Amino acid sequence: GKVRAPTHIISTISDDRGEEPCYAGVPMSSIVEQGYGVGDVISLLWFKRSLPRYCTHFIEICIMLCADHGPCVSGAHNTIVTARAGKDLVSSLVSGLLTIGPRFGGAIDDAARYFKDAYDRNLTPYEFVESMKKKGIRVPGIGHRIKRGDNRDKRVELLQRFARTHFPSVKYMEYAVQVETYTLSKANNLVLNVDGAIGSLFLDLLAGSGMFSKQEIDEIVEIGYLNGLFVLARSIGLIGHTFDQKRLKQPLYRHPWEDVLYTK
Ligand code: ACO
Ligand code: LMR
Repeated sequence: GKVRAPTHIISTISDDRGEEPCYAGVPMSSIVEQGYGVGDVISLLWFKRSLPRYCTHFIEICIMLCADHGPCVSGAHNTIVTARAGKDLVSSLVSGLLTIGPRFGGAIDDAARYFKDAYDRNLTPYEFVESMKKKGIRVPGIGHRIKRGDNRDKRVELLQRFARTHFPSVKYMEYAVQVETYTLSKANNLVLNVDGAIGSLFLDLLAGSGMFSKQEIDEIVEIGYLNGLFVLARSIGLIGHTFDQKRLKQPLYRHPWEDVLYTK
């Protein structure tokens, strides 16, 4: 038989050797001619399968909703400062991306992990939140700097409305809402945030679509695919902020002394 030389890389998501590139076996001509969207391309390259339209639509809504949130948030601030320091597009973009993490935009995977674990173990919201408190861990997906119980995040509402209409089940999201009801009874800033909404709803997408085995869902949650949605989405806004600063020919940013408490 054939003797195969050992390879240094294994790749399973795309192939560029033929006449046209293929994403998870789907040739580029089909992607273009059959009117695939960004949600389909994400499904192919991240999940290695085509997902039903309501799933790819949901992915696209996540991308659109998280593309930007104004100039004042951590990521945009870094990007703006970097662009104003005369740095190039990639430097300005990654400077903003590097702020994405447990407090800002990067709580989606942990929200999915903790909500899944708590729901699957039948913990009441009280038991879940109080056990997190005992461990000294803030509940990922809960809390916001400016959103409040009486000034909810519209993005969360839009995601919930879409899922309630199109998903076969929204049990994880409903659990996250019960957790929010409990946390809001403790403090008015402890709303379900966009990371928590996406984290819980993606669990519903994975479990309800019938496209993933239990083992695959566990692997996706364990590896942590979902922060990728925010990273991808927010790149759109961060690139926009870079162009904006360059277009406006903004000078080097220096933070005003008056806004610093100099103290010993
Ligand atoms: N779980 C439990 N208690 C909380 C939480 C939470 N998620 N968030 C705030 N609190 C409570 C704590 O008692 C906190 O006091 P502590 O500092 O002793 O822990 C108190 O509220 C006040 O918190 P602040 O630090 O003033 O809240 P802040 O407005 O700075 O924090 C933040 C906002 C960072 C989003 C916070 O709520 C948090 O860490 N949430 C979890 C991570 C998360 O979901 N991040 C994504 C946000 S959405 C986005 O970035 C797109
Ligand atoms: C965002 O999407 O960037 C925000 O929810 C974070 C913020 O501080 O507003």
